[in-house]
Amino acid sequence: MKISQRGTIPAFIVMDVMKAAAEREASGEGVLHMEVGQPSTSAPRGVIDAAKKALDDDLLGYTLATGILPLRERIARHYQDYYGVTVPPERICVTTGSSAAFLLTFLAAFDPGDKVAILRPGYPCYRNILGALDIEAVEVPVGPESRFQPTLAALDAAGGGDLDGLLIASPANPTGSMLREDELEQILDYCRRHAIRYISDEIYHQITYGADGIEAATAVAHDEQAVVINSFSKYYSMTGWRLGWMVLPEDMLRPVERLAQNLFISAPSLAQHAAVAAFDCGLELDANVARYARNRKLLLAELPKAGLDRLAPADGAFYIYADVRAFTNDALAFCAQMLEETGVAATPGNDFDPVDGASYVRFSFAGSDEDMAEACRRLQSWLANSGKVTGR
Ligand SMILES: Cc1ncc(COP(=O)(O)O)c(C=O)c1O
Repeated sequence: MKISQRGTIPAFIVMDVMKAAAEREASGEGVLHMEVGQPSTSAPRGVIDAAKKALDDDLLGYTLATGILPLRERIARHYQDYYGVTVPPERICVTTGSSAAFLLTFLAAFDPGDKVAILRPGYPCYRNILGALDIEAVEVPVGPESRFQPTLAALDAAGGGDLDGLLIASPANPTGSMLREDELEQILDYCRRHAIRYISDEIYHQITYGADGIEAATAVAHDEQAVVINSFSKYYSMTGWRLGWMVLPEDMLRPVERLAQNLFISAPSLAQHAAVAAFDCGLELDANVARYARNRKLLLAELPKAGLDRLAPADGAFYIYADVRAFTNDALAFCAQMLEETGVAATPGNDFDPVDGASYVRFSFAGSDEDMAEACRRLQSWLANSGKVTGR
């Protein structure tokens, strides 16, 4: 029987690393999880209580395709409270994680053959979803010289006016790097001049460390034509609840609604009812961020002692993207061997960068203080004996 070409999209490698780590755990050996980009905490207490109440009181049927009104109103209020920006709830569409928001945005904004610029290194699913939709992902290489964010010259080099879309995450995965507000404004201005649809992945907002005075700026405040995507997965510590949202430009409201009706009917009802409470759980959630900040500080101090001293900025999110060229040119084998010999699971850069990623490893520091300290100790002693590392 025929099988579609779309199914040949690359695997999301981190999921494969998670599988190897789970196999190790199943065989009774411990794993220090630095591979997966998710908080090691549950949803906040208020969300769990709201979910219990919804289970008892609510029918939990389908919702409107764009989400329940109380949640859209609460998200709108969050823009007012946190960023000081007024957004009508009608411009908000609740989705099945930000993952569904990407699919809906790409389908609503672009046709097959259109060109959408993404950063390399960057979150792998952008490239893979665009590929599955026959939309051309134009990679913009970024590196330490521009804090892993694009310059206007890099956008020109990627095709400039020929582009139909540009997608940037700030803070970014895997580098944690952020755009300064004036850089975001320049990029938005560039996109307006070239009729490029800007998509802003703001999933790591509120997980920032004030490094070099950089604060996360929302594209909602600067451009009504931009699509802004966010999620309950990271700051709100709700990965498995599968809930995200978009702030949409007027011209995309009805197209996205029609696509969402047909593709998903609605986002999970229980998660939506519970998530209304998430915005009132700041104390608990900020305590998680304080732990990420401690872990970040620890890793930035300890990884260099292990010989990993070329690290991306980590302005936000919970990742350190380390150049491991001094030890290997095969990050896949390096990570497999590291898991096998130290029990530390991390993600090879190949996931984020098909060209140079084999020289990088991403360490997630969303875990507990104890796990991060132990991981540092093990890496230091393992790399001190690095003659045994593959690819050297
Ligand atoms: C940059 C970025 N965007 C989007 C996602 C997808 O998250 P979700 O579908 O859980 O909202 C992730 C997950 O790791 C991510 O790192």
